[in-house]
Amino acid sequence: MVQRALEAVSPTSPAKMPTQEMPSCMRAQDGSDVLDAATDLSVRAAFEGKVVLITGATGFVGSVALEQILRLCPGVSKLYLLIRPKLGSSAKTLTGQARLEALLRGRALFREHTGSEDALQAVLGKLVVVEGDVHRLDCGLSAADLERLRAEVDVVIHSAASISFFEHIHVLLQQNYQVLHAPFCMWTSGL
Ligand SMILES: NC(=O)c1ccc[n+]([C@@H]2O[C@H](COP(=O)([O-])OP(=O)(O)OC[C@H]3O[C@@H](n4cnc5c(N)ncnc54)[C@H](OP(=O)(O)O)[C@@H]3O)[C@@H](O)[C@H]2O)c1
Repeated sequence: MVQRALEAVSPTSPAKMPTQEMPSCMRAQDGSDVLDAATDLSVRAAFEGKVVLITGATGFVGSVALEQILRLCPGVSKLYLLIRPKLGSSAKTLTGQARLEALLRGRALFREHTGSEDALQAVLGKLVVVEGDVHRLDCGLSAADLERLRAEVDVVIHSAASISFFEHIHVLLQQNYQVLHAPFCMWTSGL
């Protein structure tokens, strides 16, 4: 299937194309093209009935992922959002839940889901905030939340990251790469 797709988009005629060897990751054990064996590549179907955890939902990538899932995957069973509490503009710490509500109410991206108070409440009913900090051990989650996530989560979309062009590379490596061991070992050991 991949070979056929490549031929279809190639400006050169198939006869002139050099034979392209598919990488081994694209082949099943019997040598066939794995995409041919895939029965359903639908994201919507893959998320049906699943419990999803998103980190970084207040950021650029995470908020788009959240909106897309809400809009395109109505069959998702539950969405956990790992959000850290943060100092608000009034020097008061905003809880993760308050930050989520501000995100949904404040961003045009979510307008379709928050047109009325009923619509907003329906969305909030599907979302569960867990407060945490991905730079801390076990993502800074409480023992109860950690247990809950281990038991329930099927899919993790990890987009929490420190984006800075000025921080030292070693600090960024520590924050964005090395600390990922802990959460990902945690999710995978529990899944
Ligand atoms: N933007 C792009 O075009 C793009 C393209 C390709 C790949 N990426 C990658 O996608 C990832 C996210 O990028 P982005 O543009 O979405 O960044 P962003 O807008 O700065 O968002 C970062 C998110 O991570 C959260 N976060 C940061 N540190 C955290 C911590 N210690 N604990 C919990 N949450 C934390 C932030 O939460 P707060 O709101 O609490 O700060 C925010 O939700 C990065 O790895 C980036 O390299 C981005």
